[in-house]
Amino acid sequence: MADFKIALIKGDGIGPEIVDGAVTVLDAVAKKYGHNFNYTEVDMGGCAIDKFGTPLPQETVDICKASDSVLLGAVGGPKWDNCKERPEKGLLGIRKALGLYSNLRPSILKKQLKDASPLKDEKLANGLDVMVVRELTGGIYFGERHTAEDGSWASDEEKYSVEEVKRIGKIAFETAMLRNKRVVSVDKANVLDSSKLWRKTMTELAKDYPEVTLTHMYVDNAAMQLAINPAQFDVIVTSNIFGDILSDLSSAIAGSIGMLPSASLGATKCGMYEPIHGSAPDIAGMDIANPIATIVSAAMMLEMSFGLSAEAKAINDAVDKVLDMGYRTTDIYSDGMKKIGCKEMAALIAENI
Ligand code: IPM
Ligand code: MG
Repeated sequence: MADFKIALIKGDGIGPEIVDGAVTVLDAVAKKYGHNFNYTEVDMGGCAIDKFGTPLPQETVDICKASDSVLLGAVGGPKWDNCKERPEKGLLGIRKALGLYSNLRPSILKKQLKDASPLKDEKLANGLDVMVVRELTGGIYFGERHTAEDGSWASDEEKYSVEEVKRIGKIAFETAMLRNKRVVSVDKANVLDSSKLWRKTMTELAKDYPEVTLTHMYVDNAAMQLAINPAQFDVIVTSNIFGDILSDLSSAIAGSIGMLPSASLGATKCGMYEPIHGSAPDIAGMDIANPIATIVSAAMMLEMSFGLSAEAKAINDAVDKVLDMGYRTTDIYSDGMKKIGCKEMAALIAENI
């Protein structure tokens, strides 16, 4: 029996529904295993702009820092497109404030969802089980930005230090040691200086991990390789922006972006866990969103931040069981399956804990 403090950032769009779904499942875990999960709801993103005039109130940062972990839904939406500070700024701000430099995004093709993948069966014959390790607090997301006063040009800076590359590289190699010991480092070293430094640093670091095979791939080729032979990848390590793009691609190959979790970690055990998809404002409040990505993000939180592996496994097994029974939300629906909503999906998973 243990006590954990969890900060909940429900956010915008479908955020509140999917976080509620994850809480339903966490409550079932708490009951079965005798834990205490204490939730504190905090605001970030568009809802925080509406309430406080800023996407990331200081109180949110303070409460997240004082928690054992943060569970996040999603932020953003067209409503705030013309605000001075966009909701996404809150997300980047909290990642930075908590020092969450490493973002782990696993994509696994579940046998139940083969039909939901856009790839042909032959391309999926060897499956897909890739971990994208995305650098999360550097690169072009945090470089200097300029827009000329007359609006005639704008620029964003991509900058990486050796230290930043090293620390994300370490995470990738250590992750690979627990998996199939293969790392593909993705860059654009045929053009960018920052990528040349990235490649050189990864090559140096690889010497500390003799059991791991490191290869390098240009990002354009990596995108193509993911589409034509996804099974070749074990761990992909890459920069903030390339990781953003490639993780959407790998999740689509796995059937739906609505299925995949992520963990953002830094130097401490306090991590932030969130689905990799966005706030989907077009379907907000309709009870048709897929809560599974957030539910399995909660499972990652139990395992990686709280050390509760059995409880995490119970969640993942319950998800599989409900999929085996044929239940599907709209995004992963195929003929002959039982279409259900967000609430019901979460309730069924909770029941099967
Ligand atoms: C993600 C999202 C964010 C990102 C956006 C919302 C700022 O796309 O987490 O992948 O680009 O990091
Ligand atoms: Mg993204």
